Amino acid sequence: MRMSRREMLALSAVAAAAMPLVARADVAGTAPDSLNGLAAAKGLRFGSCLGTGPSGAPRQAGVTGDRANQFDDERLKAIFVRECGVLVPENELKWYAIRPNATDFDFARADKLMAFAAANGLLVRGHTLLWNRDIWMPPWTQTYDFGAKPGKKAERLLTTHIQTVASRYPQVFSWDVVNETIAPKTGEMEASVFTKAIGPEVIDIAFHAARAAAPKAQLVYNDYMSWGVGNKVHRDGVLRLLERLKKNNVPIDALGVQAHIGPGASDSTNTLEGENEVAWRKFLDEVTGLGLDIIITEFDFGDQTLPADAAARDAAVAATAKHYFDVMLSYKNLRYVMAWGMIDKYSWLRDRMPRADGLLKRPLPYDDDYQPKPLREAIAAAFRAAPERRWLLS
Ligand code: XIL
Repeated sequence: MRMSRREMLALSAVAAAAMPLVARADVAGTAPDSLNGLAAAKGLRFGSCLGTGPSGAPRQAGVTGDRANQFDDERLKAIFVRECGVLVPENELKWYAIRPNATDFDFARADKLMAFAAANGLLVRGHTLLWNRDIWMPPWTQTYDFGAKPGKKAERLLTTHIQTVASRYPQVFSWDVVNETIAPKTGEMEASVFTKAIGPEVIDIAFHAARAAAPKAQLVYNDYMSWGVGNKVHRDGVLRLLERLKKNNVPIDALGVQAHIGPGASDSTNTLEGENEVAWRKFLDEVTGLGLDIIITEFDFGDQTLPADAAARDAAVAATAKHYFDVMLSYKNLRYVMAWGMIDKYSWLRDRMPRADGLLKRPLPYDDDYQPKPLREAIAAAFRAAPERRWLLS
């Protein structure tokens, strides 16, 4: 139920090295009835993202969750430390957060979260070394002069970035090396500045650089595939990418399934039942067949088309989520579950794809008054019912 001794020792060593002024590392998420405690009893883990203020994302100005400084909210942090065993910085490791230009790095915000994780004995996952989609890269990358040999210069920019970031945080046990490089509409590689300069091998290069800089970390490709008919092209494209990477002996360990689910999410035919469930399981079987692990990396629930009444809505969210988790956790190579936030008011979904009736969305396990919702119980119940497995780091 608790973390393994090796894991605890490793964490304390990291904490001691990174934070010599912290006398004692309290270990988060160890209460047996916490979400992480219930997960750990089955060889799983549970965690969430946490942020430190405005995301800094291009095109995201004015989004509620992005304006709020979660890190100043002691009640949120208390819930986080009670429920979670893993932390992932919501924005703080992305290029737009740490790369003001092609030569400098700004680690101040990421360091803050790493110190918080170390002080509380949280495992840390890293997101992301390359978000291969131009709209999510800092604007300077779009006008950057890649010179006469663009392939070489782009490769140097990318590998230096990966080397610098990954080696600064050796405590990160799992890295989203590449995020969202398959265009959902075509199933082909995103035509980002990096893809254009280097070609599709940009992905191979990123994974090799990550392995060199973080030899022990789990290396992950992360994306938002779902089960609806409308997502087939996306799913197939991701599978082709994974197959190619495995064939080329690229060091990749797992697929990150973002899991931004709900009837109002990216694909309106996305009820996980009947044909859709068959298609989704086939996809997960194929991923598993490649020898890859699976992670739920960014769970939240887009409830914009569900009933207005909060109780009815929360119940519907919980029921659908429970079924989703049951399906996912039936895979023993599903290693751990990350929520994309713990409290509704900090969700990035708050005013993305808003409800037509103007009511606030309720995508996460706790409500705005810091009370657990039926969704929290659905996740707990899914962990209780999950088949046991061996924890990744034991
Ligand atoms: C989101 C953050 O939650 C926001 O604060 C930010 O403005 C934009 O990015 N898929 C991902 C995450 O991989 O990085 C995104 O996070 C949500 C969708």
